[in-house]
Amino acid sequence: MKILVTGGAGFMGSTMIHYLLKNYDDVQVISFDALTYAGNLESLSDVQDDSRYTFVKGNIADPQAIEAIVSKGVDLIINYAAETHVDRSILDPRAFIDTNIYGVYTLLEAVKKFNVPRFIHISTDEVYGAVMEGESDEHSAFEPRSPYSASKAAADHLCHAYHVTFGVPVIMTHSVNFFGPFQFPEKLIPLFTCNLMDGKRVPVYGDGMQIREWIYTLDHCRAIDLIAQKGNVGEAYNIGTGHRVPNLEITHKLLELLGCDESHIEYVKDRAGHDRRYALNSQKLRTELGWEPATSFEDGLAKTVEWYKTNQTWLNRCRSGAYQQYYEQQYLLR
Ligand code: TYD
Repeated sequence: MKILVTGGAGFMGSTMIHYLLKNYDDVQVISFDALTYAGNLESLSDVQDDSRYTFVKGNIADPQAIEAIVSKGVDLIINYAAETHVDRSILDPRAFIDTNIYGVYTLLEAVKKFNVPRFIHISTDEVYGAVMEGESDEHSAFEPRSPYSASKAAADHLCHAYHVTFGVPVIMTHSVNFFGPFQFPEKLIPLFTCNLMDGKRVPVYGDGMQIREWIYTLDHCRAIDLIAQKGNVGEAYNIGTGHRVPNLEITHKLLELLGCDESHIEYVKDRAGHDRRYALNSQKLRTELGWEPATSFEDGLAKTVEWYKTNQTWLNRCRSGAYQQYYEQQYLLR
């Protein structure tokens, strides 16, 4: 089976590639990534000589680059390629429109043109907007409120439209917040972990009582694997754990895991348009496909903190931007 993983050098894409190579012998994985600030080939250094793995540098918004791969035949595309950080989308939305909307359009066109049998699109619970009470299920209306979530919602609508209009075999997935090893240290959990490891303070937005639902990366990989094999094309699946907590509670857990006191918390100005709460109903995935999360939030968080503590080189190179030279050293100069 030949699988194209777009955004393969990012946090979730690289975790999925590790998962696929570990769990399947008869797989060929092509990792496709633009290597923007968040794409890091060092996250895949342990598999770069595996004969089942290939890396191609490119942007999903570039039809020629995509067609060069897809025209040779792929059995499955999993699209992780995206601009994902809400704060960046507030500062400069342009890249979010280019990658998250135009990029997905380009992929859909390639899937249509070359009859790719299955296309899994990774999206977010943020498309449903803030949910003050209850849960969003797969039929809830989209009410995105940030440039990031609006770009993801637009892409989801395109996916649905391509299925209805052209019969493109796409499955949409909406996931809660991911966490785990290899996440770029701009998101809440890795940023706070790294600041505390350095004895710095952590910037809690507003009152810190915003609620997010969290999933450990490997559980998300298991869900995508199952959806790719057994999901119904043209449909959407929510991927959630039900573990919903205010940011401040996570902050306190991290303070405890890293042996720091409350003086390390700094309350800062709230994010513009900050969604107060997300909550996903993921019963469809559980009852129809039999998926359940396997890692508790506490275990996942402890594993994640331990990983950052023991991978200082990855982290330092990531923070300094030095990892971007890795591609040239390891791939171009071979
Ligand atoms: P984030 O990891 O950016 O994910 P998302 O915005 O996609 O949910 O943020 C998670 C929550 O943590 C969100 O409510 C914003 C908050 N947050 C802070 O309070 N401080 C920070 O420095 C960051 C990055 C996030």
